[in-house]
Amino acid sequence: MKKSYILETAHLLLSNLISKEDVVVDATMGNGHDTVYLAGLAQHVYAFDIQEKALYETQKKVNEQGLNNVSLFLDSHQHIFNHVNEFKGVIFNLGYLPNGNKEITTKSDVTLETLHLLIPHMKIHDFIMLVIYIGHPQGFIESKAIEAYLKTLDNSTYKILRVDMPYQNNQPPYINLITKIKDGS
Ligand SMILES: C[S@@+](CC[C@H](N)C(=O)[O-])C[C@H]1O[C@@H](n2cnc3c(N)ncnc32)[C@H](O)[C@@H]1O
Repeated sequence: MKKSYILETAHLLLSNLISKEDVVVDATMGNGHDTVYLAGLAQHVYAFDIQEKALYETQKKVNEQGLNNVSLFLDSHQHIFNHVNEFKGVIFNLGYLPNGNKEITTKSDVTLETLHLLIPHMKIHDFIMLVIYIGHPQGFIESKAIEAYLKTLDNSTYKILRVDMPYQNNQPPYINLITKIKDGS
């Protein structure tokens, strides 16, 4: 499958952030493209989704590639800490499962709840990446809710990079990358 320009850029950023000693979390495994990419960079990937179809598609790719550094969970990302405690980064590729049920999409209240859990847990150089889709109504609501929350973070403690394509038609997704740069709030 051809990656979108934003997803290519997201992967490029991830390749600079993650090394073979790192444990990372794919909060929204979907069809497994990100999980498999992360498995090539990291020591171990813990991946979550609420849909059986996502687990099926991802497990298939994991088996095809003979990966042995991936753990898949049929669970909401709010429950990450029930499964894993130490990780360098978390990736959220938001929205609905491509080729799946478009009604089952990430929800702003759930995404925010997870961000509220993750942010206090971050250590220096840890990161959270969000790929946010504004081209569908729920995604637009989610993007506004995330922006409002990110504005509340102390910007001497967290660096927040935004990568978007403002001159492009068809409302492409954009990236928010939150990195913790000092101890504190
Ligand atoms: C855009 S897709 C992810 C794409 C995927 N990372 C890939 O590489 O194919 C978004 C996924 O988020 C999942 N999702 C929605 N709410 C979730 C939640 N609370 N916890 C975990 N996954 C969730 C959906 O089921 C869907 O599969």
